[in-house]
Amino acid sequence: MSFTQYKPVATRLQRSELACPGSNPTMIDKAADSAADFVFLDLEDAVAPGDKEQARRNIIQALNDIDWKAKGKTVSVRINGLDTHYMYRDVVDVVEQAGSKLDTILIPKVGTPHDVYMVEAMVAQIEEAKRLPNRIGLEALIETAIGMANVEDIARQHYTKRLEALHFGVADFAASRRSRTVVIGGLNPDYPGDQWHAAIDRMVTACRAFGLRAIDGPFGDFNAPQDYIAGAKRAAVLGCEGKWAIHPSQIALANEVFSPPPAEVDRAKRILIALDEAAAQGKGAASLDGRMIDAASARMAMNVVKVAEEIAK
Ligand code: GLV
Ligand code: MG
Repeated sequence: MSFTQYKPVATRLQRSELACPGSNPTMIDKAADSAADFVFLDLEDAVAPGDKEQARRNIIQALNDIDWKAKGKTVSVRINGLDTHYMYRDVVDVVEQAGSKLDTILIPKVGTPHDVYMVEAMVAQIEEAKRLPNRIGLEALIETAIGMANVEDIARQHYTKRLEALHFGVADFAASRRSRTVVIGGLNPDYPGDQWHAAIDRMVTACRAFGLRAIDGPFGDFNAPQDYIAGAKRAAVLGCEGKWAIHPSQIALANEVFSPPPAEVDRAKRILIALDEAAAQGKGAASLDGRMIDAASARMAMNVVKVAEEIAK
């Protein structure tokens, strides 16, 4: 290992993240009772300009009235982008009036580390002024060409280590790059393979280098569960911990794909036991089921066991 190491900033179960428009209180109530690990209440693109203020009020009320923790949910608010005049009031109103109930803020269309810095400074001031007992985390959507061009710099944690996850927002990313798409997050048959591979792969590496979680964004066709599953599996293979659900039917699919199967958990535990036994005999490597295992296998196995423990909580 390098002497320079970034430990995970925050560990949270985030297999499924349900997107829920702040303008729709009925959907917010249903989201709280869903099986999603994470819910983000949206003030950005799912809310029309004329509804932004009411959506803010709905979200503040829902954060205060619903016991999200008791319902096993991590709750986040997606604020508007820094290029809008909504953003400062989103942060001020939501954090001042419901900050103690809020786990994270999701910042859309992050292009440079300064975008994170601005929200970070505002949140830190409000937390202090209001003497909030909790520390609100930040998450950033990488969904523009400039965001992806700067993704390592954004992930680098320049400031107070409040940034804990990056999300790949494929819809805006496609728009920003003028990629030819057929369905949000889907594959274009004109491309021989997965046209999102390079982007997700780059974001995951940036995340893991600097201790962040990597989350895959939306898949638009909720009538095509098989395509959702295929996309989620591709993201999981690359190292993402979860994926958005833009429809309640996608929650169970994400929970399934991002939970390690029992056989994998079992094998991970056996790897750790076999390596412990080898270590007791002064050996660094061992053999399990006819395959060589060593310290790198132990690190991979620990990742699997930790996720299984989080799910079991
Ligand atoms: C999400 O916000 C996206 O643009 O995909
Ligand atoms: Mg977007």
